[in-house]
Amino acid sequence: MKNLSGSEEAKRNAAEKACELVTDGMVVGLGTGSTTAHAIKYLGRKVVEDGLKIKGVPTSYASEALAIECGIPLTSLTESPELDIAIDGADQVDAALNVIKGGGAAHTREKIVSMSAAKFVVIIDDKKYTDVLARSVPIEVIPYARRLVEKELSKLGGKCTVRSGTGKDGPVISDNGNMILDCEFGRILEPAALSVKLSRIPGLVEHGIFTNASMVYIGYEDKVEVRS
Ligand code: 5RP
Repeated sequence: MKNLSGSEEAKRNAAEKACELVTDGMVVGLGTGSTTAHAIKYLGRKVVEDGLKIKGVPTSYASEALAIECGIPLTSLTESPELDIAIDGADQVDAALNVIKGGGAAHTREKIVSMSAAKFVVIIDDKKYTDVLARSVPIEVIPYARRLVEKELSKLGGKCTVRSGTGKDGPVISDNGNMILDCEFGRILEPAALSVKLSRIPGLVEHGIFTNASMVYIGYEDKVEVRS
């Protein structure tokens, strides 16, 4: 999936501003990706240096490893099924706060965590904010069902490619052991309707359209805008 990414400064600004919402006692969903990495590092500093008392629920093995390295105590959805807040990056956000996620192949766990949270806060740099969603939609699929899913997606007007790793690594495999299809739908004028149609396809584990963002923090090099 091509990434139209802004500067690290813009990402960091959005991430750190959103982390101001996190207070003592909270259970925090920790998203995946380079923008969220700034949030995890910032929260880790708050835990280690300022004694902030939180527990994190990571959305991927990568975020789990980073959170451990940064000193954030972890819990699980089994132990803490109701999160206070989830903070996560995105690949694109439209003016109505519909979101495309899954550039890091972690959208299935990210959606579970975001839906478990009282507040789902999306952090992006300014390059990812747009009027209408128009990126490919990441789709996690059970390998056994790949051909059926591809056929059903094409009936919906989607053009799919299997996401592959670098060099000779073969297809990208998610933390859940599944394949990722990147599916082009052109301009997505009705994300919620498409989301419902995608969710009906057997063997399609989860897709990257999120319609549950509470707030979006848009980072620029010198400021942060908040949309809700
Ligand atoms: C992972 C995601 C990421 O949050 C999304 O791809 C944005 O990543 P980055 O902050 O590195 O641009 O959805 O599945």
